[in-house]
Amino acid sequence: MTVRSRLAAATAAFVVVSCVGLLTSPGTIGATMDVKDAIEARQKAMKENAEHMKAINAYLETGQGDPAMVAEHAKAIAEIAKAIPTVFPAGSSLADNHGIKTAAKPEIWTDRAGFEQAATYLGEEAEELVEVADGGDKQAIAAAFAELGKEGCGGCHSKFRQKQD
Ligand code: HEC
Repeated sequence: MTVRSRLAAATAAFVVVSCVGLLTSPGTIGATMDVKDAIEARQKAMKENAEHMKAINAYLETGQGDPAMVAEHAKAIAEIAKAIPTVFPAGSSLADNHGIKTAAKPEIWTDRAGFEQAATYLGEEAEELVEVADGGDKQAIAAAFAELGKEGCGGCHSKFRQKQD
């Protein structure tokens, strides 16, 4: 395991743990904190997603690393994908009055099934890249990576993430 993938695993674990905390922490005092923690955790997890994509892109663009490294990063994305729904608790959209900056659209909660499907889909696309990377064919890796970015990340962002300026 590379340092980077260990980090990613730790992040995914953190996301899961902080969510269990969310579900079990009692009372209203914690309520605002929970939303804040969840928003922080998911933004951190998303930044990790971006780091993994960047590392894979570096392999494709400039030959840094190798297919095994690509597989590690894709695995890490698949792990994060599993945790995504857990860090989007009710009351944490951009339309909720919690005073924390977030790009999470209310559609995440009005179309919960669609949102969770998008997270599952990201996991499937990432697993697919793991398999393709194991095969070692750079062109096939490039194709699976492009699809992961466009359909996996982009498929969810286009519906559920507020457009950035
Ligand atoms: C299931 C939906 C979903 C998927 C899949 C998804 N994202 Fe996101 N992403 C979001 C939402 C919603 C936000 C806004 C979160 C917020 O601001 O609270 C976001 C925010 C981000 C951000 C900004 C984080 C910040 O600092 O505020 C980045 C970067 C990002 N995503 C990258 C990615 C990448 C790369 C992938 C694919 C590997 C990905 N996302 C897959 C829903 C998704």
